[in-house]
Amino acid sequence: MTDAPAAPSRPPTTSSRSAIVTGASRGIGHGVALALAARGWSLTLVARDGDRLAATVDEARGAGAVAVRAVAVDLAEPEASSTVLETHATAFGAVDAMVLAAGVGSAAPLAGYPPRRFDKQFALNTRAPFLLVSQGMALLRAAAEARPAHGAKVVALASMGGVYAEPGLSVYGASKAALVALCRGLNAEESGSGITATALAPGYVDTDMSAWVHDTVPPESMIPVADVVTTVLALLDLSPRSVVSEIVLSRAGTTGYTA
Ligand SMILES: NC(=O)c1ccc[n+]([C@@H]2O[C@H](COP(=O)([O-])OP(=O)(O)OC[C@H]3O[C@@H](n4cnc5c(N)ncnc54)[C@H](OP(=O)(O)O)[C@@H]3O)[C@@H](O)[C@H]2O)c1
Repeated sequence: MTDAPAAPSRPPTTSSRSAIVTGASRGIGHGVALALAARGWSLTLVARDGDRLAATVDEARGAGAVAVRAVAVDLAEPEASSTVLETHATAFGAVDAMVLAAGVGSAAPLAGYPPRRFDKQFALNTRAPFLLVSQGMALLRAAAEARPAHGAKVVALASMGGVYAEPGLSVYGASKAALVALCRGLNAEESGSGITATALAPGYVDTDMSAWVHDTVPPESMIPVADVVTTVLALLDLSPRSVVSEIVLSRAGTTGYTA
């Protein structure tokens, strides 16, 4: 576990709001990054594949982002979060929003589940968001103080599997349930100071990540990325006086309790 120091903060250095978006090169994070770019946000975009990330940076600039930074790191590595925060702090001085979408799922029954796969999911799905929020708290506070009408927001992509049991997704679900608890805890500790968090828990969303279930869950029955993006934008539009700790997005045609 890292003991990296908190990223330094100073008053925001850009008049636009700024966001860190993880998992920004594909799927939900990519959709959120381009939507924020179109709204004129400044962005720090994070994923592992530098080429794909560079292409997203170009798309974000083309869509209207005021300024864009890219950090190609594996967020499962404990030092990666401080690299992201330092890059963002140097460029923008504060962080108005963290949209934490980088994640991984590995489906198998609990019986005989490989511990390494457990560790990988918790490192990326749970520890990385914890480190970004914990070590980035000064940056969130700086934004909340500078723009009290907006506050500072954390939107963490959890999952239906983190809220309701899904056979084969127990470990993935546990890593996401922990994320739900972190968002609740952040609200309990910081919402009075303008920092609020939401765990967004959708059923299957039509992205690369869900392609493995196409034989049983057709992509046209999945939640579109655009709907998740719309939900994130609505959360970011809220005043800091409202707290939404979690949102469950169910797929139409299901009981509402299954991915
Ligand atoms: N799709 C679904 O059905 C669904 C449903 C509920 C919740 N979610 C959650 O929503 C989030 C986004 O999912 P998605 O469907 O958009 O996934 P996706 O299409 O697989 O995209 C994942 C993104 O995260 C990046 N990423 C993956 N591993 C990373 C790592 N170790 N370090 C840094 N970046 C990494 C990927 O880029 P690189 O590969 O280049 O790193 C990519 O940009 C995830 O947290 C997922 O658990 C998804």
